[in-house]
Amino acid sequence: MRNSTIYDCNVLVLDKVHNQAGNITVIESSHNVPFPIRRVYYLYDVPGGESRGGHAHKELYQLIVAASGSFDVLLDDGINKKIVKLNRPNYGLLVVPGLWRELFEFSSGAICLVLTSHKYDANDYIRDYQQFSEWKEIKR
Ligand code: TYD
Repeated sequence: MRNSTIYDCNVLVLDKVHNQAGNITVIESSHNVPFPIRRVYYLYDVPGGESRGGHAHKELYQLIVAASGSFDVLLDDGINKKIVKLNRPNYGLLVVPGLWRELFEFSSGAICLVLTSHKYDANDYIRDYQQFSEWKEIKR
């Protein structure tokens, strides 16, 4: 996915089972996410002003949900950038492989739920921006 761009990512509006006693949103592999879900993790207790991410994945697909509170996600394909604000538990940002991402502006008590297409693999990360640009074969 070296040639992926930020335009391959979008916010999926997930169905909400609405009830006076509260809502339910269901995420199922292949039904409303276009990849098999092999891992779920969540970020929480993020101190104010802190940022997360700051890396790219070579193969990993992710669906990022603000399960509680809000935060911003910066996506960068080496040429174009966009910032997506996530602030509803039934919105999921689909992030395709091959993009640099940063998460920031976490509200107090925010929970960032992440569903991924693969198990954890340190070798799937690119943590250096220069290396990321070279991997994308971007010539400046
Ligand atoms: P990292 O993905 O760099 O966090 P973030 O993008 O949110 O800033 O992971 C931080 C640390 O947690 C890193 O040392 C690896 C570990 N980790 C796992 O062991 N398993 C996982 O599934 C994840 C996401 C991270």
